[in-house]
Amino acid sequence: MTTSRTGALFVEQLRHVPLLRGLTDPQLAELSRTARTHRFDAEQIVFLQGDAGDCVHIILRGQVKVVTTSRAGHEAILAFLADGESFGEMSLLDDLPRSATIQATMPTTTLSLRKADFHKLLREAPDLSLRLLRALARRLRETGMLVQDAAFLDVGERLAKKLVAMATETIELGVTVPSATRVSGSAIELRVTQQDLASMIGATRESVNKSLASFRARGLLVVGRHRLSILDLDGLRGVVDRADD
Ligand code: CMP
Repeated sequence: MTTSRTGALFVEQLRHVPLLRGLTDPQLAELSRTARTHRFDAEQIVFLQGDAGDCVHIILRGQVKVVTTSRAGHEAILAFLADGESFGEMSLLDDLPRSATIQATMPTTTLSLRKADFHKLLREAPDLSLRLLRALARRLRETGMLVQDAAFLDVGERLAKKLVAMATETIELGVTVPSATRVSGSAIELRVTQQDLASMIGATRESVNKSLASFRARGLLVVGRHRLSILDLDGLRGVVDRADD
């Protein structure tokens, strides 16, 4: 990881960070003095679950995954976060250790703020506080949905739901989920490993492999190395809709 102090020329860049939208010039100038930028390589750990929390990060460019690990070393991926999203705010709000490990999935640049500066900003910038609360509310909803799915859906249904969500996000936003993803012809290509899929839906790699084989036999997708091509998105949606009935 490389770290650098930000300078005055950074103000213009800060102005374009969505979370910071609406900050006054003096607030941006103060941020440019107190914030730091960090660069992480792909696979690099930003911090570990259980560490003491001293700063919040805003992703300027790149992507990280939010991971919890069991004592046996099994990994559950809670989320992928990308440009404009923040992480590490929870420990600064409740003074407890880091709730999850953060790992970069590609070269990633973040802006970090120490606790005292973050708290000051929250007090002085109500729009920023509201935006952050909105993001936390969305995460709470998504985590609630994960718990609900774990309780009520089987592995095949959870996998179909995850694939539909990833494919839909790709089509609607053209974003990279969870790494480079693209729509090619009528097939939607997702670059994701079976292990990552298993970690995202709380299942074993073997059970994911079995469900993928069943989807492939039904002509819903093609399985490649580190990638999947979705051929029949409506067919996959059908698996999810039947599960919700
Ligand atoms: P913190 O607990 O300080 O460190 C880990 C960070 O991961 C946490 O703050 C949040 O920013 C982020 N995080 C934790 N749980 C989730 C989740 N369910 N979805 C998205 N991000 C999360």
